[in-house]
Amino acid sequence: MKIIETNNYQEMSEKAAHFLIKKVQDNPAIILGMATGGTPEGMYRLLIDDHKNNHTSYQGVTTFNLDEYIGLPKDDANSYYSYMWKTLFDHIDINDEHVHLPNGLATNIEEECKNYERLIKQYGGIDVQVLGIGENGHIGFNEPGTAFDSHTHVIELTDSTREANSRYFSNIYEVPKEAITMGIHTIMQAKEIVLLASGERKAEALNQLLHAEISEAFPASILQKHSNVTIIADRDALKHISHVTV
Ligand code: PGA
Repeated sequence: MKIIETNNYQEMSEKAAHFLIKKVQDNPAIILGMATGGTPEGMYRLLIDDHKNNHTSYQGVTTFNLDEYIGLPKDDANSYYSYMWKTLFDHIDINDEHVHLPNGLATNIEEECKNYERLIKQYGGIDVQVLGIGENGHIGFNEPGTAFDSHTHVIELTDSTREANSRYFSNIYEVPKEAITMGIHTIMQAKEIVLLASGERKAEALNQLLHAEISEAFPASILQKHSNVTIIADRDALKHISHVTV
């Protein structure tokens, strides 16, 4: 695993944006796996700046998001569909037919999960998957205990995840209890993974990602088995990790 340590969140975002821009420039038809949450927001802002200033084009790019809440309409301010359009897609030249998120309002959710998985395969799989990490080790919404061989599936969110995400809602009761998420197997099939983390509250999770025994109790530990992972994290998030490449 390659680890890139940065001084702070801004520098993490810059390195991450630079990493992705280079991937898009090298392969304008790249299939990108996208993540939501607070961590990638700075990176998305810089992708927009770069698109405006340097005209990096996303017309040939296809995206698949990791997850979506069940029960929120697309236009709900807290749906990941809204997040992605507000935070990135509205501001770049991506073709809306190339954008994919699971539909959390599908009448047949099981079928939706199967179709999502099938679609990723049809596109030949994800070239570069962006990941964040939950304090409990979740990747996507794969909470502790999720099977390593899981494909896109429905997950019941843990109290700690709902608590962490309640900052975006008026109260915790409004945070959906379930989500659709790519499975661990789906994520591990990505050809390359870039995981972003910032701040002291992620330090223990990064420590476990790198050093814990590989176990479904800590989903991110599976990344130790992936052959092409880059972690871009700031000093606070890496405070338990010694030897890092800068
Ligand atoms: P965060 O979420 O970026 O908002 O910290 C990360 C995650 O839960 O995967």
